Amino acid sequence: MLFVTGGAGFIGSNFILEHLAQKDAEPILNIDKLTYAGNPYNLSAVADDARYAFVQADICDEIAIATLLSRYRPRAILHFAAESHVDRSIHHPDEFIRTNVNGTFNLLSKALKYWQTLPAREQSDFRFLHVSTDEVFGSLGPQDAPFSETTPYAPNSPYSASKAASDHLVRSFHHTYGLPTLTTNCSNNYGPFHFPEKLIPLVIANSLAGNPLPIYGDGQQIRDWLYVSDHCAAIRTVLARGQAGETYNIGGWNEKTNLHVVHCLCDTLDELAPRAAGSYRQLITFVKDRPGHDRRYAIDARKLERELGWRPTETFDSGIRKTVQWYLDHEDWVAQVRSGAYLNWIHKQYGDHPPGALI
Ligand code: NAD
Ligand code: TYD
Repeated sequence: MLFVTGGAGFIGSNFILEHLAQKDAEPILNIDKLTYAGNPYNLSAVADDARYAFVQADICDEIAIATLLSRYRPRAILHFAAESHVDRSIHHPDEFIRTNVNGTFNLLSKALKYWQTLPAREQSDFRFLHVSTDEVFGSLGPQDAPFSETTPYAPNSPYSASKAASDHLVRSFHHTYGLPTLTTNCSNNYGPFHFPEKLIPLVIANSLAGNPLPIYGDGQQIRDWLYVSDHCAAIRTVLARGQAGETYNIGGWNEKTNLHVVHCLCDTLDELAPRAAGSYRQLITFVKDRPGHDRRYAIDARKLERELGWRPTETFDSGIRKTVQWYLDHEDWVAQVRSGAYLNWIHKQYGDHPPGALI
């Protein structure tokens, strides 16, 4: 059995659905607190699958985690659960420290105790795979080489600092206690089930609602985009063949400015869902920049390709097209996440002077 934490979120949901679509897939226990970002509806397609089970629990809960480990005896833990939105971390860093740092520490501590009770063969097969981000490396200048596994950590937001702290804890549990850990640092993902507070789903949802498309600052910040299925495939590869104690960078070689991304989304929507009022580009609105906004991220994923043979399959254009089509086909999903909690967040972000209702 595999434990997946945070499996009701964006990447975790995609991972579980793709994993269970494989023949002879190992069963999964999804452990998720169901914060505003966790949506069990994402997993309705596997809700009745005998290989899938869900437990609502907080990764900080010592008794719950220890009990689940001793009862279900997983052969690996895939740790996705986190507070994940940079803008939220600016307003409320506390929850990021609690879940990302203390929660990861609790999982590691309980996993270590459990692992120490296993017979030697099961000990060597066990893996704790920690899903992390490229944001731990900080911001690149225009001419800098992409982040590699040896780039020094230099996190700039409370989110990236909390993820960096969790990466260090994972590293220390391997070096100090021998726990067989794997860490992946991935670039920005996009695709189905992406919560519409992040750039790509926000722009699609706002476009379809005829609302402004907010671009922070000058829109020239660069992110390295990866379609979520490619990230899930990379995680399966690292779990199967990664070397314990190693870290692997995951990226799509798709560096794009935010303005370019928004233009692509508008142009794809113009083609697939044209509106009478004219191009969606007319909705683009430049707004106040994010404090401490990192200028550029880029991933060098050659270690993963060289050592484990993983390569992304989607191009940026094919991934964007699939994503836009998914949101067009799932307007009910977008409507569902328009919850009260989400609207409170919009108020917090933009105060009494929003650039327009965001979704
Ligand atoms: P998400 O915010 O969509 O989902 C997070 C999930 O974790 C939710 O289901 C939430 O309910 C759950 N969760 C939060 N706190 C919890 C707690 N205390 N206990 C149990 N469950 C809890 O996040 P995502 O975008 O799917 O990201 C998943 C992981 O991948 C994160 O660790 C993130 O740092 C990492 N990552 C994300 C990206 C990206 O572009 N989204 C890129 C690289 C790495
Ligand atoms: P986001 O999706 O929040 O991911 P991250 O900050 O983790 O990279 O943002 C991606 C980029 O888009 C980032 O440079 C901030 C920018 N952005 C906007 O310009 N407008 C928005 O409304 C949002 C949410 C993000």
